[in-house]
Amino acid sequence: MTEARLRAVIKGTGSALPAKRVSNAELAQTIDTSDEWITERTGIKFRHIAADGETTATLGAQAARRALDAANMDAADIDLIIVATATPDQTFPASATIVQDLLGAHGGAAFDVAAVCSGFLYAFSVAESMIRAGSAHHALVIGSETFSRIVDWEDRATCVLFGDGAGAVVLSGEVGTRGALATKLHADGRHNQLLYVDGGPSTTGTVGKLRMKGQEVFRHAVTNLASVMGEALAAAGVNAADIDWVVPHQANARIIDATLRKLGLSKDKVIVTVDQHANTSAASVPLALDVAVRDGRIKPGDLIVLEAMGGGFTWGASVVRL
Ligand code: UT7
Repeated sequence: MTEARLRAVIKGTGSALPAKRVSNAELAQTIDTSDEWITERTGIKFRHIAADGETTATLGAQAARRALDAANMDAADIDLIIVATATPDQTFPASATIVQDLLGAHGGAAFDVAAVCSGFLYAFSVAESMIRAGSAHHALVIGSETFSRIVDWEDRATCVLFGDGAGAVVLSGEVGTRGALATKLHADGRHNQLLYVDGGPSTTGTVGKLRMKGQEVFRHAVTNLASVMGEALAAAGVNAADIDWVVPHQANARIIDATLRKLGLSKDKVIVTVDQHANTSAASVPLALDVAVRDGRIKPGDLIVLEAMGGGFTWGASVVRL
């Protein structure tokens, strides 16, 4: 039985996708690939690609506005904004400060978190800890990415996998049994060269392009995700059988299936959007969450698990009562 105490409760969700949607068949017109290969190996069918002028901050602000509307709150109520991203608008300032300005929510804390595809889990954990500590009361946690700008469009092994988008949640501190029950985060920096960008301000002075050893990432992903979900469930004092929905990072449908199998969970308890959005890195979990909240699958009171794994390696899982 969950004890009543101060927790960070998800009060609203929102998301944003660029209007331009590109199918596998369209990609196959310019890259040596096929709809069949991409679908079979990844489950991906479409990805959205940001237009000129559309950025991580503008998409993030759009998702944030929708989350505020869903929560029935104003930007002025927010005292903390965290943007999880690996594709900030600029090296600095933090994209969170640009989002804050776009929302007109001046004065509260605003910063970015860099944990690549696990970024939303890391940002969520920081925000909910600050809320429990009393240093924030109402937070916007945003995952926003424009990976189309850092993929190497001549590398078919990576460029077909990623897309652009943003997702956001509003978190408020409330005493009760709802909210974030337990979060577990990990990193293993020995693997920092298996999924990385080959540039940066302090090395090449350039932005760089994404590089990945896909098969090795795949292997680690399944093991790490199953293990961290088990840890988070144990810390929350709940069983896998109690979970209503798993909202996983959307990198590859095969990773999602293999992870669920390891935990003995059925496929009808998982939210899958990788077919529609491809891998949107830190945006993927809040985007999938918003899709499932808006289509009525995820409801108030549901017990959900958020999980993700990405470059670093970094990985994490969170158990939340909506
Ligand atoms: O979000 C962070 C985490 N990222 C991930 O989780 C990604 C994890 N990795 C994966 O999802 C998979 O490893 C991939 C989808 C990236 C690749 O699938 P795979 O089954 O591991 O394929 P592979 O890399 O072993 O490539 C198999 C073949 C190769 O050809 P040969 O050497 O067997 O002749 C590739 O050259 O597929 C070829 N290939 C392609 N063919 C058509 C690679 N990319 C493509 C492509 N279209 N786009």
